[in-house]
Amino acid sequence: MTTASALGKIILFGEHSVVYGRPAIAVPVSQVFAMVEVTDIQDAGTGEIYIEAQDMNVASWLHEMPSDNPLAQIINLTLREINASYLPSLRLIINSSIPISAGLGSGAAVSVAIVRALCTHIGTPLPLKRQSELALEVERIHHGTPSGIDNTVVTFNQPAFFVKGHEPEIFHIGAPFTIIIGDTGVSSPTSIAVDKVRKAWKKNTLKYENIFDHIGQVATQARGTIEKGLIQDLGPLMNQNQTLLEDIGVSSPELSTLINAARGAGASGAKLSGAGLGGNMIALVNHGTAELVETALCSAGAVRTIRTEVNP
Ligand code: PMV
Repeated sequence: MTTASALGKIILFGEHSVVYGRPAIAVPVSQVFAMVEVTDIQDAGTGEIYIEAQDMNVASWLHEMPSDNPLAQIINLTLREINASYLPSLRLIINSSIPISAGLGSGAAVSVAIVRALCTHIGTPLPLKRQSELALEVERIHHGTPSGIDNTVVTFNQPAFFVKGHEPEIFHIGAPFTIIIGDTGVSSPTSIAVDKVRKAWKKNTLKYENIFDHIGQVATQARGTIEKGLIQDLGPLMNQNQTLLEDIGVSSPELSTLINAARGAGASGAKLSGAGLGGNMIALVNHGTAELVETALCSAGAVRTIRTEVNP
């Protein structure tokens, strides 16, 4: 038996504008992860693959799954990549604690955990860069124009300053800081928010390009702030980023309610994280405010909160 996993992620700065070539910052979230277990099936001939993914309501042979199913796609891409001359029949059990369509990188993490588990089981481990590229191929099929930030952070498992088409820059965290993630409970597929922004950008390109430039500047400034450990300056930058995300139309009443609740309870900054229109928000807290913010988020309707530490 072989097991492999991949962590979730949050985007701290720069979602959406990253699709248009501006920088973004994302960090792994170790409290949520996807886990894949691969075992040989003794009596099923060769090369048959059975997939069980309870969270996604899947219990099926690979050859019986629709070809556009993301699980089928990443498995087929991986098998093609390994090009093994002999393959035993295999059972894949996929579990994930990362909420789906919520901005925490669930799709990328499941893909990367599958690539890792299959390749290790078959004895052909792939370099991280290639794992990330395979996960990006699946994201492309579903999201059209993904920036690549999800698969990158999920695969490399490090805080990253990311610009589409460039190698991710793993940068220094000057001082640890604590983020509370609040889930609106509203499922929001990335493709819907990305399409909405693209349509608006086509109609009003100059306005959107200006906003993306501004978000890119905030992300770059945030990198310097994090590197220097000036955590007190990070909250206002998160608030600025949130205002700009509101300007491009990807916030929502549920996100605003949680963001306001977090700020009211003492968070020094709060914003949506990921594609928006639902999903999760994040708040920057300290020892004194962490619990107050968690309580305020739950009272304001968060279906769950996660406390995560970003460490040097
Ligand atoms: O919702 P998520 O975690 O898939 O994040 C999407 C981030 C976007 O910038 C909106 C899209 C992208 O491909 O970067």
